[in-house]
Amino acid sequence: MEKGSGFGKAILFGEHFVVHGIPGIVSAVNLTTDAAVVRTADDNITIFDARKGTEGYTEAKKVQQKESVERMLRMMELSSVGMHIVLGGDLPVMSGIGGSAASSVAIARAVVHEFGLNYDDEKINRIAYEMEKAYAGTPSGIDNTAATFGGLLWFQKSPSGGPDIIEHIRLERPVEIVIGNTGKVADTKEMVAGVATRKKENPSAYNPLFERERRLVFDARMLLERDDMQTVGKLMNENHLLLQKIGVSSNELDFLVDLALKNGAYGAKMTGGGGGGCMLALTPGKELQESVASSMEQAGFKVLRTRIGI
Ligand code: PMV
Repeated sequence: MEKGSGFGKAILFGEHFVVHGIPGIVSAVNLTTDAAVVRTADDNITIFDARKGTEGYTEAKKVQQKESVERMLRMMELSSVGMHIVLGGDLPVMSGIGGSAASSVAIARAVVHEFGLNYDDEKINRIAYEMEKAYAGTPSGIDNTAATFGGLLWFQKSPSGGPDIIEHIRLERPVEIVIGNTGKVADTKEMVAGVATRKKENPSAYNPLFERERRLVFDARMLLERDDMQTVGKLMNENHLLLQKIGVSSNELDFLVDLALKNGAYGAKMTGGGGGGCMLALTPGKELQESVASSMEQAGFKVLRTRIGI
């Protein structure tokens, strides 16, 4: 039996826009999905998903999960093999924090060890990208990149089909955030496809929003590096407005964003695919993090207290 893991992530800026070539900023969180893989004598692939989190998530993702493993086997040119996969780890499954990418990386790493393949992280990342297509349709690659490499990353899909631009961003110190879970399972594939359709149908409304996002992400990087968290927070609020405008937020996400801001968060926005799933609030310092997190818990929502830039 061999094991592998992948990081969970929170997109700080640029989800959805990043699918269309705008840069994004993503931070891995210090929680992982772990996979254990054991070869079996037959040619069946079985998966036992023991991850905890939003009710209904595991069931809702079963078909996509099976497709993602089939994609992996094709990439690895492994045919007629049997294996049992067990998924666990401390990253809860909830839409928006990269559960699918973390599990793709974890499974790919475990399978590589189990079958004695000599793949480096670049190759694992490429395989996880193919696996992500089962969950996201036309993924940008930001999730699998964060799940593979960890850290705080600048990510831009290559415009020419060459390698993506991936750069580490350094913070002066790690910064506390709160991730709030609406408790709704969302389908990233549907959300991504919806944006593409609306953008195509209404370019005059959508193109300026995409250009605004591009400038915003460049500014956000500079401000993160300068440790100007107040202004980073303002840009998060603006990013949330842009995400609302492209139709990927939801009432629950908007409610949690407002609640976080009322309780002193420097900024707040939905994170990931939207349509349910998670939001994040920028809450530098343990005290502010605690008061924002507990306000969400009192309203009946599950939260994660974590940090970016670790
Ligand atoms: O919902 P998640 O955690 O899978 O995040 C998806 C991020 C998107 O930008 C919406 C899609 C992508 O591939 O970049």
